[in-house]
Amino acid sequence: MARIKVGINGYGTIGKRVADAVMLQNDMELVGVSKTRPDFIARMAVSKGIPLYVPEGHEERFEAVGIKVSGTIEDLVSKVDVIVDATPGGIGAQNKPLYEKHNVRAIFQGGEKHDVTGFSFNAYVNYNEAKGRRFVRVVSCNTTGLLRALYVINDLYKIKEAFAVIVRRAADPADDKAGIINTLEPSIPVPSHHGPDVRTVLDVPIETMAIKTPTTLMHIHALHVRTEKTPNREKLIEELSKYRRILLVSKDLGIKSTAKAIELARDLGRKRYDIYELVIWKDSITVKGNDIYFYQAVHQEAIVVPENIDAIRAMFEVADKDDSIEKTDRSLSIGDMSI
Ligand SMILES: NC(=O)c1ccc[n+]([C@@H]2O[C@H](COP(=O)([O-])OP(=O)(O)OC[C@H]3O[C@@H](n4cnc5c(N)ncnc54)[C@H](OP(=O)(O)O)[C@@H]3O)[C@@H](O)[C@H]2O)c1
Repeated sequence: MARIKVGINGYGTIGKRVADAVMLQNDMELVGVSKTRPDFIARMAVSKGIPLYVPEGHEERFEAVGIKVSGTIEDLVSKVDVIVDATPGGIGAQNKPLYEKHNVRAIFQGGEKHDVTGFSFNAYVNYNEAKGRRFVRVVSCNTTGLLRALYVINDLYKIKEAFAVIVRRAADPADDKAGIINTLEPSIPVPSHHGPDVRTVLDVPIETMAIKTPTTLMHIHALHVRTEKTPNREKLIEELSKYRRILLVSKDLGIKSTAKAIELARDLGRKRYDIYELVIWKDSITVKGNDIYFYQAVHQEAIVVPENIDAIRAMFEVADKDDSIEKTDRSLSIGDMSI
């Protein structure tokens, strides 16, 4: 069977990771990526052999600094089966008419509104519902993290209500334009948008509040979940540990912070220290009656990468849910961080 031709519009934090992941799949071909600025990232893409596409009329800016351009973004769109749009939030919606014009499928990211596609995706929760769709939105990093944990709990004990406090990293490590210093910024209005975003994928009653913090490594969520059936702590841990995209860590082994989780990824040789897994502190999991409490951490730059790969397979109906997830996980060594 022919490989699925993939283009990445927006080769930034998410786009470059998805591009690398696409290159690891034997059923996909990376046709090219796009950049608007002729910087070192554009140069690196070309030096890795990835064809680079730029906005029309900007070719000279790139060629003036010796960066080879393979065409315009529209040229890229015309050559692919699917575009993964990883442009900054809001730009994806503006790009949608271009994808429609060329009759290509497209995946948008969590910075776009649910309405842009009318369908939001998480591989564990609704892989099968993505089958055959033209437009899919992969939800944000925080929403992906919440969904992975809530999916397992809901399946076991049926969630009656959930509440999460999200302690958000202020900026990504490479983001030298954004960020806050020496302050904490509560997200107002309350509740935050993350609860409704979870409900675009999984129908559970959840509310969230968020606080931006001056850190770049990961987000942390403090969760309280009340269930219909009475949970059992050991059983819950046993079930969570069956999912490769959930990594249970322990404070006893010294992983007591996001810094230490990242250090684990570094020591294991993960590219860009990416943690695709949702990290849950096993020893934080506390059950009192029908109430479950725990902490989890999300590596915002990486957690949505496997979801984008599975979304492609689901849209083209080339693999069943479990097969796609397993193939993606194997290609990215997801699950190998178990300690
Ligand atoms: N970063 C995260 O933590 C994270 C996590 C989950 C989901 N997301 C979502 O993923 C999407 C991308 O975020 P990101 O953090 O990867 O952004 P980013 O690092 O700023 O990268 C955006 C990319 O899009 C390109 N771009 C900028 N303006 C463009 C335009 N008008 N048309 C085409 N390309 C343009 C940029 O190219 P130039 O640099 O050349 O301008 C850059 O390559 C957003 O929806 C975001 O909400 C982000």
